Amino acid sequence: MCGIVGYMGDQQAYPILINGLHRLEYRGYDSAGVALLNGHGLHVHKCQGKVSDLEKHVEGRDLGGTVGMGHTRWATHGPPNDINAHPHVSSSGDIALIHNGIIENYAAIKEELAHRGHLFRSDTDTEVLVQLIDDIRRSEGVDLPEAVRLALNSVVGAYAIVVLDQRDPNLMVAARKSSPLVIGIGEHGDHFIASDATPIVEHTKNVVYLEDGEIAVIERGKGLKIRNIKNQDKTPFIQELEMHLEALEKGGYDHFMLKEIHEQPRSIRDSMRGRLNLVKGEVVLGGIKDHEEKFVKAKRILIVGCGTSWHAGLVGEYLLEDLARISVEVEYASEFRYRDPIVDEDDIVIAISQSGETADTLAAIELAKGRGATIIGICNVVGSSIARVTHAGSYTHAGPEIGVASTKAFTAQVTVLTLMALMIGQKRGTITGSRFFRLLNELDAVPEKVEKVLRNEAQIRYIADIYKDATNALYLGRGFSFPVALEGALKLKEISYVHAEGYPAAEMKHGPIALIDEEMPVFVIATKGGSYEKVVSNIQEVKARKGKVIAICTEGDTVVRDLADHVIEIPDAPDPLVPLLSVIPLQLISYHIAVMRGCNVDQPRNLAKSVTVE
Ligand code: G6P
Repeated sequence: MCGIVGYMGDQQAYPILINGLHRLEYRGYDSAGVALLNGHGLHVHKCQGKVSDLEKHVEGRDLGGTVGMGHTRWATHGPPNDINAHPHVSSSGDIALIHNGIIENYAAIKEELAHRGHLFRSDTDTEVLVQLIDDIRRSEGVDLPEAVRLALNSVVGAYAIVVLDQRDPNLMVAARKSSPLVIGIGEHGDHFIASDATPIVEHTKNVVYLEDGEIAVIERGKGLKIRNIKNQDKTPFIQELEMHLEALEKGGYDHFMLKEIHEQPRSIRDSMRGRLNLVKGEVVLGGIKDHEEKFVKAKRILIVGCGTSWHAGLVGEYLLEDLARISVEVEYASEFRYRDPIVDEDDIVIAISQSGETADTLAAIELAKGRGATIIGICNVVGSSIARVTHAGSYTHAGPEIGVASTKAFTAQVTVLTLMALMIGQKRGTITGSRFFRLLNELDAVPEKVEKVLRNEAQIRYIADIYKDATNALYLGRGFSFPVALEGALKLKEISYVHAEGYPAAEMKHGPIALIDEEMPVFVIATKGGSYEKVVSNIQEVKARKGKVIAICTEGDTVVRDLADHVIEIPDAPDPLVPLLSVIPLQLISYHIAVMRGCNVDQPRNLAKSVTVE
């Protein structure tokens, strides 16, 4: 959470920073600010609101300067307001700092600094860090990089920071621990800093991912130097970005979320590309090849993740148990990390994360790694922290996902999990040859079927219009469709603020049925196969209580059509592949309801895409 950008070079910094903040706004959007250094010292402009509010706020002000930094905030300590917005400036007025993360021991440091006469203006943990750096610089007579290094040795917590000092206008210092930071190196000696590569890609493809505990010192004319907080020099490892600028634009859609929903035929295909070989009849996941043996022998797999990634993990449980006959436990990373779980060297832990930066998932990985487990990552963001700390993994190739509500990342994660389960199942001999080949062919046909579902959008929008004013909604599914019910409910609540619950259909009678009346829309995934007949009975139970049923059913199903108030048909597919199709109408329903309710679809209130705090 929170997006940070920095720039030093020959160009004017402000337009680069604002553009970068727009790209990073998915990380938090309750306040924003910039700090610029020019011949007349430090200029800080900040305000509550979005980056567009900041742009209005700075109209007519001095925005000159070829060094600067910017921040878009997701509040942790202190409410979103002008004062708590970043950058924060030390009481001397010399040093400015932006921060993504949490300084856990800020209260103790603040108390000590207050005794030493420092005045605090904000409620944030961040202000403590900038005061501490200034205090050390003055009291110990050290330069800025050293003051930052010493200060970071005193703090506990997570941070990605950029620091400027008006006494050193040709110096920019950045550091990270548990929050991401990328440095772009331009052709003409310009340097860019950002929380992820999206603000950098239009300027340069050469980047350095800062490691935990590293401090980057960028000096005009001298370039980038890296040391760690123990004061050891490090050689910057320059990598080439594979990201393309078009992937970061809306491409004619009204919202990123809608664009990303429509990209799914491509993103699912890309996540299979080079892995599913119909001619040879095999699945090859290059990233985990060295660990195949471990999978074949595994007695148990643990899956950790948060939010939508956790839902993908649940689908993974059904897939791995069905196809590979391995017992799977799916854990919320936040619970797993704090309950002394039983994990050992025989275990495989699959960590799923779109961003690759989720703090709880990272902590869960560290815990399991510490106990000797083999950690396999399924991440979307190349070079992200999770992708780097895992032993091996398979990237999803969904491309950048900007809408805060995850859509194409989910289907890409499920695609990779399906490939994994097929590959392991084949190696373990737990799936018959004919089923394996049928599923390979069916999986290959999924992108086309998704296209077909997307062509139903007008009908889905019509249904959205009928239920847009609902205050509650229930989502039901069984087997492979149960996690999809959870995901459908999550999509609705996060972007349209309608209270929604996902349930295994049979559990309805243990509570949720009490809520059903003529006002309650009930979305039921009732595709052929699996527990179809049982779900049809559940639909009847809802109808008997006058609930409104919107069923996702298999093409041509007249039984469900006769029972339900509305049906959205999806092409026939084997049970394990149904989630890749049935989730699409639920994503579209939520999107259209949110738009009709006037909600900010891409930036829902209180949420952020990359949750780098626990
Ligand atoms: C946030 C996002 C969700 C996402 C979850 C996990 O809550 O809004 O869309 O599913 O974090 O994020 P990850 O990047 O680890 O998949």
